[in-house]
Amino acid sequence: GKGAAMVTAVAYRLANQHAERQRILDKLRLSHDQLLEVKRRMAEAMERGLSRDTHGNATVKMLPTYVRSTPNGTERGDFLALDLGGTNFRVLLVRVRSGKKRSVEMHNKIYAIPQDLMQGTGDELFDHIVHCIADFMEYMGMKGASLPLGFTFSFPCQQNRLDEGILLKWTKGFRATGCEGQDVVTLLKDAIHRHEEFDLDVVAVVNDTVGTMMTCGYEDPYCEVGLIVGTGTNACYMEEMENVELVEGNEGRMCINMEWGAFGDHGELNDFCTTFDHAVDERSANPGKQQYEKMISGMYLGEVVRNVLLDFTSKGLLFRGRLSERLKTRGIFETKFLSQIESDRLALRQVRAILQHLGLTSSTCDDSILVKEVCTVVARRAAQLCAAGLAAVVDKIRKNRQLEHLRVTVGVDGTLYKLHPHFSTILRQTLRELAPQCEVSIMQSEDGSGKGAALITAVACRMRNEAK
Ligand code: GLC
Repeated sequence: GKGAAMVTAVAYRLANQHAERQRILDKLRLSHDQLLEVKRRMAEAMERGLSRDTHGNATVKMLPTYVRSTPNGTERGDFLALDLGGTNFRVLLVRVRSGKKRSVEMHNKIYAIPQDLMQGTGDELFDHIVHCIADFMEYMGMKGASLPLGFTFSFPCQQNRLDEGILLKWTKGFRATGCEGQDVVTLLKDAIHRHEEFDLDVVAVVNDTVGTMMTCGYEDPYCEVGLIVGTGTNACYMEEMENVELVEGNEGRMCINMEWGAFGDHGELNDFCTTFDHAVDERSANPGKQQYEKMISGMYLGEVVRNVLLDFTSKGLLFRGRLSERLKTRGIFETKFLSQIESDRLALRQVRAILQHLGLTSSTCDDSILVKEVCTVVARRAAQLCAAGLAAVVDKIRKNRQLEHLRVTVGVDGTLYKLHPHFSTILRQTLRELAPQCEVSIMQSEDGSGKGAALITAVACRMRNEAK
């Protein structure tokens, strides 16, 4: 009768809606072959960045770091470290002991970098940094001491020496004026002189990936790759000097800061990008830049999810088709929500509570399931893309050494990697599939960027003293 016809009509509509949702989500699902293609293109981009002829035009800059060896355990002393470029700004005192009591002891203080300082003038930003250092020295009761300092500055820098870093471009929402094209050590020293309070002996400028690799390398000599998946994403690894065409000399190895976040900026990822990725990019602080980073890292994943939800809602496939002001608001989905929503111990009821907390109140049970599925798909794609890049890196190391089989450790840090319940599992699984000839151990670093900067400074001081 009529009732049965209606039920059939409803069932039909639901099936259609389901198919439509899946069709949209399928665009965010990558096949094995697609991932292999990403790996291949990353390998190509790496070659372009390393070679002198193509470097100028390369997206993946492959920046020499002047770090030539991992720590050997004989370094010692007290060091200061600064850490700028992650979630917070930190100042650290790091005490490195050698010999039998070999250990690293750290004290640190976290300082907020207010939004307006990230986007004000460079002088204001560096004045603030110097102010924080002064506060820390006072707090530690070491006012007036002049310790060797390692500066973890996690942005693309061109280095011609260890103690220099010319900022190529800001990433991750930083926009302070007058810094691009400048040496950050000079900017720091100028700010110190404006204060006339103390002096600093800046020994090293260090990317967070490099700090992470060094920290893990202190424990595990197989660690020759550093990876960050946090606010941004990037990797570094030990490359043969003969392949580092931008630096004289063919002996030994040097750590290369890849700046892989910029992969895709010449369209290398266009086949895999969705309208959601374009929307995220267009409304970011740096449109057209850091495409790979925008598909992987914590600063952007929540926005990708939000854009998918917006699309679903406007098509009547979610939230009963009602577009709330909240959902239209940029940045409501912080990374931590992505991790929370995907937590396996979480009942749907709690997913709903999170949505409510986000102001998305009109959700039904089905809505919660769908939101969770969107989070899953977006995070999975991020982990797999990241694995494709990493596969290119470890296979390059393997080929450099003409090995059938490579054993290597990757030191990892970053909030997304550490807090997300599935990211690391998917990353490792995909890496096995994409680089079967490499046996990769993943080692989470504890406070990689701070400790690593101190270790690099320590190595440099050891070598400075040995040369004397
Ligand atoms: C951005 C920066 C890069 C850093 C990464 C992780 O990609 O450009 O230098 O390593 O974020 O913090």
